[in-house]
Amino acid sequence: MKHFLHVNDIDSSASWLSLAAECKKEPFKYEKLGKGKVLGLLFFNNSLRTRLSTQKAAYHLGMHCMIMNIGSEGWALEFEDGTIMDQGKAEHIKEAAQVISQYCDVLGVRAFASLEDKEKDEAEQVLNGFKKYAGIPVLNMESATGHPLQALADLITITEHQQTKRPKVVLSWAPHPRALPQAVANSFTSIMRNNPQFDFCVTHPRGYELNPEIIGDSPVYHDQNEALKDADFVYVKNWSASNPYGAVLNNDPHWMITPEKLGKAYFMHCLPVRRNVIVEDAVLDGNNSLVIEQANNRTYAAQAALIKILESL
Ligand code: CP
Repeated sequence: MKHFLHVNDIDSSASWLSLAAECKKEPFKYEKLGKGKVLGLLFFNNSLRTRLSTQKAAYHLGMHCMIMNIGSEGWALEFEDGTIMDQGKAEHIKEAAQVISQYCDVLGVRAFASLEDKEKDEAEQVLNGFKKYAGIPVLNMESATGHPLQALADLITITEHQQTKRPKVVLSWAPHPRALPQAVANSFTSIMRNNPQFDFCVTHPRGYELNPEIIGDSPVYHDQNEALKDADFVYVKNWSASNPYGAVLNNDPHWMITPEKLGKAYFMHCLPVRRNVIVEDAVLDGNNSLVIEQANNRTYAAQAALIKILESL
């Protein structure tokens, strides 16, 4: 039984990219693989792309999908062991996960970072709670620290558009009025590091350092213009500070991506994106924006991950 929890679960980028390309060309090729299988999708947080693209991927594979906005419609879950449950939590993850796993063959979970307790977020309490007690494969649909399906879709998109053997790919922080998790930036960085054929670097204001274990030896610039020089792909994303954890320390509009900053590079963002805060209209509406293609590739990223899981059952 295989889980898909992290970009490191992609054992070979080449074979996963080839599988995703196969699914894109012929979406129903593996329709028999999931016949009679049920995919449960649990959402503790909102979604547009993840929910619909994963549902579509399941449809292509002949699976039946059951979806629950568990964060707003389910019983509030307790994740700690040994708790006296006399407060607001009505059900323990131990029972909930075992019950759900009787109804499903594969379970997708979306549970963002709280941005209140770094230790608990880094422990991936929700995702790992389901992994521990469900007894069926778990698919990460964005967890506290990672969004591997997005990163795989991004890798597919870059590969489809790269014009040189070693394109320069820049991950740039951009301003946002609210505190956002680091999951997308973490997974994008990890997948770039796992694919050293890309000339990858990161740029953000001081105070927005990502986890050093994730960044590794990737070059980091605090001067955005220096980082963007000669870029082929500019991946833009906001994330909140790691110290103080979850803080918004900077809203400098000079970090917003404009056509002048982008130059001839492709613009990438996972969406949803705030226009004229993260990026100017002219970039999103221009020919170099790949955001709609990234969202389309979410279906084939999910399909590749589900095929790998189904093959392991
Ligand atoms: N990029 C992404 O995960 O989109 P949603 O939050 O809409 O699912």
